[in-house]
Amino acid sequence: MRKIFVHGLSALDLIHTVSDLPKYAEKYKSNSVYVSIGGNAANASVALSRLGVKVFLSTVVGNDEIGNILKQKLLSENIDLSYTHYIDNFKTSISSIIIDKNGERLVLNNRESNDVAIKNDIDYEMFDGFLFDSRDIKNSIKILKQIKNIKKPKVLDAEENTTNELLNYFSHVVFSYQGLKSFTGIDNIERALKTFAPKTEFQTLVTNGERGCYYIQDKIIENIPAQKIKAVDTLAAGDIWHGAFLFKLVKRSSLVNSIEFANYISSLKCKKFGGSSGAPFLSELKENFAL
Ligand SMILES: Nc1ncnc2c1ncn2[C@@H]1O[C@H](COP(=O)(O)OP(=O)(O)O)[C@@H](O)[C@H]1O
Ligand SMILES: [Mg+2]
Repeated sequence: MRKIFVHGLSALDLIHTVSDLPKYAEKYKSNSVYVSIGGNAANASVALSRLGVKVFLSTVVGNDEIGNILKQKLLSENIDLSYTHYIDNFKTSISSIIIDKNGERLVLNNRESNDVAIKNDIDYEMFDGFLFDSRDIKNSIKILKQIKNIKKPKVLDAEENTTNELLNYFSHVVFSYQGLKSFTGIDNIERALKTFAPKTEFQTLVTNGERGCYYIQDKIIENIPAQKIKAVDTLAAGDIWHGAFLFKLVKRSSLVNSIEFANYISSLKCKKFGGSSGAPFLSELKENFAL
């Protein structure tokens, strides 16, 4: 069984679905509610584990009630928590999310800044691939320095707070549209990629919701469109995309096949409510995408 190391944010998401987002300070009834694993790294871990990979999640969780619930949920997804850090007097990250009938969402997140020093005694050679989000840069760089000479796929989920230093440790950097915009200051994917990507040694990609994924090769911008589906909940779609993408890279699939697969897996997620709890299991994959 392949082994993947994931480092970054984990949280507990409380997700309500409603017809319309609340407008006034009143009492409202929701149509349904989900308690789900959240946070980029933890969401991606769920996707990877459901695809049949052994996932080792390195993340910081508080020794509190929310942390206990989160821990149980992660364990029930068969995610290995040997490298998870349980910290006293640290508040586990929690989000309250409301999603309306059009998939628009309101997110209220509470996250303590994370200055926790992580363990250093891990045998990173045993992993087949690495995934990091951009939520815990200090610790990420510490780990990335240690694995610098390990030539395995290393994927970064590059959101708004990505730094120049962080990028250079990766084989593949996947920006969200928002992440690319704030990093380059350019509000256009093609222009941003043409200005930024030729100067880098890693493969740069951008995901952009229902428009799918963009990447640049030999100075040419390519787009692999998303699957055409009726999306009901896109929460965690990007995180699940990164997990599925790395899954294929680790299997030595081509860049195009890995993107197509990630688009497919994240589209299955978008058809279900509940953030990462809607990530597909192996048994749900269509034959042409079966493994
Ligand atoms: N409405 C949608 N229809 C189909 N696929 C979608 C939709 N929204 C997201 N996806 C898939 O999920 C991927 C990641 O979504 P994106 O919104 O770019 O991530 P993020 O939330 O990190 O910004 C997209 O590239 C696409 O493949
Ligand atoms: Mg994202």
